[in-house]
Amino acid sequence: MKKIVIEGGTKLRGSIDISGSKNSSLPILAATLLIDEKITLTNVPIVKDILTMINLLETLGKKIKIKKNKLEISSTNKKNYFAKYELVKTMRAGILVIGPLLAKLNQAKVSLPGGCAIGARPVDIHLDILSKVGYENKVLKGYVVSKKKFSKNKVSYLFKKISVGATETAILISCLSNKKVILRNIAIEPEVIDLINFLNQAGANIRFLRKRSLVVNGVKNLKGIEYKIMPDRIEAGTYIVASAITKSPLILNNISIDHLKNIIVVFKKIGLKFKFISNSSLKILPNKLKSIKIKTVPYPGFPTDMQAQLMSLLIFAEGSSEIREDIFENRFLHVLELQRMGAVIEIKNNKAKITGTSLLSGAQVMATDLRASVCLVLAGLVAKGKTTINRIYHLERGYENLVIKLKKCGAKIRIINA
Ligand code: EPZ
Repeated sequence: MKKIVIEGGTKLRGSIDISGSKNSSLPILAATLLIDEKITLTNVPIVKDILTMINLLETLGKKIKIKKNKLEISSTNKKNYFAKYELVKTMRAGILVIGPLLAKLNQAKVSLPGGCAIGARPVDIHLDILSKVGYENKVLKGYVVSKKKFSKNKVSYLFKKISVGATETAILISCLSNKKVILRNIAIEPEVIDLINFLNQAGANIRFLRKRSLVVNGVKNLKGIEYKIMPDRIEAGTYIVASAITKSPLILNNISIDHLKNIIVVFKKIGLKFKFISNSSLKILPNKLKSIKIKTVPYPGFPTDMQAQLMSLLIFAEGSSEIREDIFENRFLHVLELQRMGAVIEIKNNKAKITGTSLLSGAQVMATDLRASVCLVLAGLVAKGKTTINRIYHLERGYENLVIKLKKCGAKIRIINA
């Protein structure tokens, strides 16, 4: 079983190149099912979830060549609308192929992704929008079985809650159609915007009406293009914490400052300072950390995917801080592990109260989900002594070359097989 071992207390130095966004690559990969011509994607992070999505697309009729961080995607004449459980179970984003399969083949059988550590992860809103635009969906033995039922050429849909994935499904089912679909109360995370930019560049007609509403005028077909995936803002935010927690001024390259504004504003409140070198590079200037009270909300608020990383940092802030997790019902699994390292954190419902301390001790800890795992790496970088992190497959799902990137900056971190 692979583990990560970290000797804490080492200062970091130098710079880190940020990879492309996992959560933008996944919906864009699903979108390639809508396009028969050849597509080239660049700046794709080669992480487990991307490889899982590639395997899934190959069973659905795509042929994909991986050349470092470039994917060349072409179509075979195989048309398959069955996304098997074995291929979807480890990656929640498997549900995103249902929209393109229905748009192209008028039917789909896609495994329910199943819950995961951070919550039940229902797909009811995905199914609701599919039924509103004309598809009948049944849930049978762990699969969503959908087929075209009727055609409506104009649909207006209001999301009952903001959902990144359901917004992406709504866009994917509408852009290749003879429909005009108006969507309201949509998610506007940068990853959703990247999907829209990809589709519009391929010939789709998706236009914003207001901040959280857009209209999709379906088109007959989409063309093959070359597209560069946006930088991963959550990976960048994670390394900002690595810099701050070890009090080491690090430079981050290949970032999008614009996508990081909502994260940077919170780090500035905690006391961090930043030197903006260009619109794709910044330097973190660590400082004395102040406590804060914050909640996770949809973009452009503070992202739930940065909650665990922020918590690691707030352990070293003066006074006590409070984080309220308002997106997922069970996203505090990292707290038990941080407590094993000596953190003083109290949980009450969806609120975590973090009492500032000056010392963490290394320990054996368990990774539970992608972001909880990386928060333990961050704590291990600064804890006294050795930290061993088990079940690191969670990390490998979403962070490209994490150990290599940190080692290059001087961290005493390695992967062992034990
Ligand atoms: C995306 O998940 C991201 N994953 C998540 O990142 C991220 O945490 C989340 O958006 C929120 O920003 C990908 O993009 C692959 P949601 P998604 O639909 O789309 C509820 C990571 O670490 N909901 O915005 O699944 C849901 O339970 C991952 O990279 C319904 O009730 O998130 C949650 O409480 C973790 N019914 C809330 O909405 C639905 O049909 C927001 O979920 C769909 C969602």
